[in-house]
Amino acid sequence: IVARIIALLIGYGFGLFQTGYLYGKSKGIDIRKQGSGNAGTTNSLRVLGWKAGIITFAGDLLKAVFAVLLVKLIFHGTYGADTKVLELYAGFGTVLGHNFPCYLQFRGGKGIACTTGVILAVCPPAVICCAVGFLIIVGITRYVSVGSIFLVSAYLVQAIIFGQLGWLKISGASRIEFYILSACFTGMAIWRHRANIVRLMNGTENKFGTKKGDK
Ligand code: G3P
Repeated sequence: IVARIIALLIGYGFGLFQTGYLYGKSKGIDIRKQGSGNAGTTNSLRVLGWKAGIITFAGDLLKAVFAVLLVKLIFHGTYGADTKVLELYAGFGTVLGHNFPCYLQFRGGKGIACTTGVILAVCPPAVICCAVGFLIIVGITRYVSVGSIFLVSAYLVQAIIFGQLGWLKISGASRIEFYILSACFTGMAIWRHRANIVRLMNGTENKFGTKKGDK
């Protein structure tokens, strides 16, 4: 339990690096007061353009990768292959730090770039289906939120399939914990997108490529 808490805290620390917010501040704006009000890639891109979007995505993805790698480095000697579960805790901590930053009134992003970084670092083969599906869905619907919800759902399905196929190389009990924690990523992302879901149902969700946004 101590190792899990340490992993979560390390992740939370990394998650506090709010790339979109900090980039926005460097341009003199609070990204959380513009567009959809979200401190993430989509809103940075919407409000500040492609460069901001790419920097935000890269920063938010990399902080998750670094958190996972650091936890792997610290615990691998003790836990061996089961460190994967602790890596996932670090990833979840990063999403928590990103979504609920203590120094920004707990108002951050929705954790999709972070989650992508976690998948990349913890379960790399799953990234392909997540990313390709995301791009196709956003390409067709123009709704980033729909692509994001697909991405986290596709991750959960693949985590379970890969786990059952033995590809995760973790022991039985750790595997169940891995699935439950994976479901937490999906649940968290869907919950963070609840306003988007309401807008989708009302037909008022922002379409990718249009400038204006609403909260
Ligand atoms: O990753 C966030 C995206 O799915 C939606 O962002 O700004 O349109 O709420 P936004």
